[in-house]
Amino acid sequence: MKEVSIGLIGFGTVGAGVVQILEENRDVLEARVGVPVRLKRIADLNIESDRGVKVDRSLLTTNAMEVVRDPEISVVVELIGGYEPAKSLILEAFKNGKQVVTANKALLAEHGPEVFQAAHKAGVDIGFEAAVAGGIPILRSLREGLVANRFDKILAILNGTCNFILTAMDSTPGVSFDEVLKKAQELGYAEADPALDIDGIDSAHKLVLVLSLTHGIRVPPRSIHVEGIRNIDPFDVAMAHEFSYKIKLLAIIRRDGDNVDARLHPTLLPEDHPLARVDGVFNGIFLHGDMVGDQLFYGRGAGRESTASAVIGDVIEMARSAARGEAGRVPPLGYPESWKASGKL
Ligand code: HSE
Repeated sequence: MKEVSIGLIGFGTVGAGVVQILEENRDVLEARVGVPVRLKRIADLNIESDRGVKVDRSLLTTNAMEVVRDPEISVVVELIGGYEPAKSLILEAFKNGKQVVTANKALLAEHGPEVFQAAHKAGVDIGFEAAVAGGIPILRSLREGLVANRFDKILAILNGTCNFILTAMDSTPGVSFDEVLKKAQELGYAEADPALDIDGIDSAHKLVLVLSLTHGIRVPPRSIHVEGIRNIDPFDVAMAHEFSYKIKLLAIIRRDGDNVDARLHPTLLPEDHPLARVDGVFNGIFLHGDMVGDQLFYGRGAGRESTASAVIGDVIEMARSAARGEAGRVPPLGYPESWKASGKL
């Protein structure tokens, strides 16, 4: 392998972060990979706006199909989000032998089996660390470092926008929900449609991906109980505070014997619980593995550089495995057959 050549589709907040990291950390990346890491093409419908990063304009195109078919590109990074045209572009990239890195939790939560099978059939990898908890390498930890464990309990704050809003409402009595949401949007944390954040859909997509990796259970997000934070008002937050609790939007997975229950809703947490201290745009995952006991993962769950850091992590991992002649790092299989979703799912 002479170099890692990347085609980027989607030049929004996270796409600009990818460009920034490739520029600012070029020296460490090349030292760690052993060959140059080059951005070959960038596709976006809007190639005129200034994204605040230095970019060679000759790389820009409005034709994403050109990127996924470019013979000089080895890794396609999909950051446009949503179902279409993201799915068609990813499937076309596989057909053309490209590895794919995506942050697209909605697509994988709804169409994961089809996408993973297509990658498997093409003998290529798909990396999606950036789809869950931004810069925290939680998926890699679950399927690699913690693979020896059964997970009895996973409690997770997986949406930076909601946590930012709940934290602001807790620390600024009387502040309005809309005011804080606007601020989160300005900071680039919220989804294009913020209803996905505040109604819990974005967290549910992430929960479905974690459930599939940790318990081998693949269910559509709509089969899970999901309640967002739209109806939390300053009085709820003040009452929780009065009794030494915090309100957090939690993704919850519990295993009781062979039954696995998953749900997502605002939850009262005692102020001394480790997740109660996860504030602002930060995400936290508190889990119990039967061998490691309790573990807490903490970090920025949304935002330009942290999510882009997870994207680049996947790109580099793929470059390394391609250099070893390996591919097919599709989600792990092989869970006890007796494990099943509880009737509540
Ligand atoms: N809108 C998401 C959040 C972005 O606020 O967490 C990261 O998935």
